[in-house]
Amino acid sequence: MPVFQIGKIPPRLEGPTVCLELLKPWDWPALYGLFKRLDRESFESLGFMNSTSALGMLLFCLFRFRWAYMIKTRKTPVGLAGVYSFEPGCSLFLALAILDSTYRDMGIGRECVGLVTTAFKDHGLCKEVWVEVLKSNQRGLNFWLKNGFTLEYKSAKGLVLKRNL
Ligand SMILES: CC(C)(COP(=O)(O)OP(=O)(O)OC[C@H]1O[C@@H](n2cnc3c(N)ncnc32)[C@H](O)[C@@H]1OP(=O)(O)O)[C@@H](O)C(=O)NCCC(=O)NCCS
Repeated sequence: MPVFQIGKIPPRLEGPTVCLELLKPWDWPALYGLFKRLDRESFESLGFMNSTSALGMLLFCLFRFRWAYMIKTRKTPVGLAGVYSFEPGCSLFLALAILDSTYRDMGIGRECVGLVTTAFKDHGLCKEVWVEVLKSNQRGLNFWLKNGFTLEYKSAKGLVLKRNL
């Protein structure tokens, strides 16, 4: 199970309102709760996870991400930042979801992107961050564009964007 092979990855990234903590086994119930409360639109925007059940989402996270951070604000779990792939010194492929929709549009996603990009740049961990968004997820696409990502290419299901650090 690759989720906890972290090497010198920062285990905790803390900003003014947001904290990203390496996902631990005892976080799984809270994560399952967040997936259970996801509305249909959010499920669709996370189409890469290829699942329509909370359990399926959880299994996806377990087996597909190399590691993941639980996103917390004032100690409340609100979302997940998962790493699909990481080439030290080169690139990081990231997924980001503010799973509790009541915490969206509050600047949490932006703060997460800032925390990850700053930490990985400052530690010399990578030079590029990549993300993928479904073609149908206009809101997600706008989010990445506004956070300094540029469109690199179209994939089968979506659009792949990159930000140089
Ligand atoms: C896309 C997503 C990650 C964005 O995260 P978010 O926390 O909602 O995004 P932010 O709050 O940082 O930014 C969104 C908007 O809130 C605004 N905002 C930022 N700080 C704010 C604040 N303090 N108060 C109010 N609004 C704020 C931003 O300006 C932005 O608005 P704009 O697009 O009109 O400029 C989140 O909505 C999500 O998880 N969606 C479902 C899954 C998904 O689509 N993931 C991405 C694809 S992989």
